[in-house]
Amino acid sequence: MKSKRNIILPYIISCGLILLTTLFGELVKEKIGPTNIVMFYLLAVVFVAIRWGRGPAITTSIISVLFFDFFLVPPYFTLSVADIEYIFTFTAFLIVGIIVSTFASKVREQIMQHQTEKLHSALLNSISHDLKTPLVSITGTLTALLDKKSNLDAQHIRELLETAKGESDRLNRIVNNLLDMTKMESGVLRISKKPCDLRDLIGACLEQLKEKIGCREIKIEIPKDSPEISVDFPFMLKALFNIVDNALKYSPDGTPVEIQADFFQHKAQVRIRDYGAGIPKEDLKRIFEKFYRVERSQNVSGTGLGLCISKSIIEAHSGKISVESTPAKGSTFIVELPLE
Ligand SMILES: Nc1ncnc2c1ncn2[C@@H]1O[C@H](COP(=O)(O)OP(=O)(O)O)[C@@H](O)[C@H]1O
Ligand SMILES: [Mg+2]
Repeated sequence: MKSKRNIILPYIISCGLILLTTLFGELVKEKIGPTNIVMFYLLAVVFVAIRWGRGPAITTSIISVLFFDFFLVPPYFTLSVADIEYIFTFTAFLIVGIIVSTFASKVREQIMQHQTEKLHSALLNSISHDLKTPLVSITGTLTALLDKKSNLDAQHIRELLETAKGESDRLNRIVNNLLDMTKMESGVLRISKKPCDLRDLIGACLEQLKEKIGCREIKIEIPKDSPEISVDFPFMLKALFNIVDNALKYSPDGTPVEIQADFFQHKAQVRIRDYGAGIPKEDLKRIFEKFYRVERSQNVSGTGLGLCISKSIIEAHSGKISVESTPAKGSTFIVELPLE
């Protein structure tokens, strides 16, 4: 809906600009002569070309010539011309219009490409940072273990190894997320759906998160004898994992996390609720974007990929993910999956 409007809008504005130029031409045509008014049309073409590129600009050129001819070239209110010279003016205008449009849109593309390059390097910086932190920690631990002078006791060695293991796991998760992301973006992700019980899915998810859950309370409400859902188990597990992981990560230790399922005629709905800090309203739309993290979360480790991956997986199942959040009260992520 929105993208359609975005495609049409430049054309509407172009027409508006042409109308304005024509009106202006009407006012001054006695004083400055029609051929000079052409320059103002050209101005409109340049503006449109820089703003929206070649297509709208060329359209603007053509409509400009028609308006110019109809309203400002005698005999008025007809497309015929009294003086054959005007034909040259029109042709010249169209040629200049096309050349200007092409150049202006090239400039525009270059500007946009430059912006994407800047964005890419910013992303690369943030990934390298995320990869580096665990690597530095692992290297530090191993160095300490190898150092003969340090005389570590068994207890200490174990602690160091556990840290290294934790950091390796983290590294592994980050790399896996990046790989998933790349796969999804290149369209390699193929899901194969099989009927399964939502309970098993949530069970598996909590099993994977059991260390993070620790003694935290997880309330699960799934209606008895609910129908099976048709999903790619490993992928949907990953999608739910990221959401439940966030719920745990972004809420304080003493608070519960609730997982609630409802079944409707054509869809299953899973709601994952936490009582954490919530998400500011202005960030709600963007948290599903790749690498997007809420400013406040910078002290919690993460790459901003989790929700983006979840969203891709859920959408690959023709499902939907949305979020409701009240700052300081908590967030609810809602996953909807179609039932066959
Ligand atoms: N349950 C939640 N409560 C508060 N903020 C959340 C929650 N889930 C996600 N967010 C915000 O959305 C951002 C994106 O989440 P995600 O894509 O999983 O990335 P990551 O967890 O690696 O930062 C997080 O950085 C966090 O700011
Ligand atoms: Mg996350």
